[in-house]
Amino acid sequence: MATNSADIAKEVAIQGESDNRIDGAKEEIKRPQFGSRYLKDPSKVFEHNAWDNVQWDEEQEEVARKKVAENSELFIQEEQREKYESDADQYWNDFYTQHQNRFFKDRHWLFTEFPELAPEPNTVNSNDTEAGLSSVKDTHQRANAIAEVNLKEGKIKEDFPGSSASTRILEVGCGVGNTVFPILQTNNDPGLFVYCCDFSSTAIDLVKSHADYSTQRCHAFVCDIVDDAAVLPFPENSLDIIVLIFVLSAVHPDKMQSAIDRLCRHLKPGGLLLFRDYGRYDMAQLRFKKGRCLSDNFYVRGDGTRVYFFTQDELGTMFTSAGLVEEQNSIDRRLQVNRGRQLTMYRVWIQCKFRKPIKS
Ligand SMILES: C[S@@+](CC[C@H](N)C(=O)[O-])C[C@H]1O[C@@H](n2cnc3c(N)ncnc32)[C@H](O)[C@@H]1O
Repeated sequence: MATNSADIAKEVAIQGESDNRIDGAKEEIKRPQFGSRYLKDPSKVFEHNAWDNVQWDEEQEEVARKKVAENSELFIQEEQREKYESDADQYWNDFYTQHQNRFFKDRHWLFTEFPELAPEPNTVNSNDTEAGLSSVKDTHQRANAIAEVNLKEGKIKEDFPGSSASTRILEVGCGVGNTVFPILQTNNDPGLFVYCCDFSSTAIDLVKSHADYSTQRCHAFVCDIVDDAAVLPFPENSLDIIVLIFVLSAVHPDKMQSAIDRLCRHLKPGGLLLFRDYGRYDMAQLRFKKGRCLSDNFYVRGDGTRVYFFTQDELGTMFTSAGLVEEQNSIDRRLQVNRGRQLTMYRVWIQCKFRKPIKS
């Protein structure tokens, strides 16, 4: 697994996240949801780059269990574990200082899996990239202009950033904005306001210096979601959607529940939590060597960033304990294929949608 940045780069690349924004927009239209290309004839495994919903037999499960038992035989010493916890934001700052905005790519599967993020997306003509590009750009500019006019004419009272928005989305652990900017570019609702936070100040500086960052439609802020004293820039019950993409896995397992509880208090009744992250026995977990394990299913990479591997049950318990109701809790078992090198890689991701009930 990713024990250093180069390894993480490989890991991210094989998550199929290497397209650029415009190719991604085209891909949205063509790409079916996860779980629709099945490997029926094993001899054809190298005919595609990925196969969905791969069934694991008992033997494969047992091999995975053994690998995890081996690589978690010894936990890292307590003093070192505490350092990884107390300096967690610093390790991510170092990560973004090194990689800037070149590391994570825009999430091209975002609107396929989570159409709620752009209920009426602009349709991009895949035969005409120029037209597609200007159409996406127009949406973005038009929404910015409407928000600006409303603000000038006093139609918006700024009690807090985004207070007069009709739809508020928060992305937690936003990194350099690979989810936030595609949302701002694709969602053409003039009443949309997007918040994004990360505990890495380096990442937030990069978000704020992005050409598409506009305080009319977006508010990026530094926040550690495990910090009880952290003040969020919007009231409780004010968010329509909270997005958690590959972020909860970076949080210490003992601190996940209270962070989720606090975040969920900020969801409106009827609001939605969207989640995607690593699942138990993902290839990334099996590739850790001995000496990188912090606690059960929680590891540290060579660059000091940490990662947890979830089960569906753990997530179901955590989100329902926070008062949410399950709409989706699915496992995405994928066989990824490196056709050139004739390699196969078994990925396991979990995707959830949980809603805050209207009446609690
Ligand atoms: C694997 S990256 C994912 C970034 C982004 N969500 C994406 O998918 O491209 C995890 C992000 O979570 C952030 N993070 C980790 N722990 C956090 C915490 N306690 N509070 C806020 N952000 C955190 C890291 O700084 C990093 O940017």
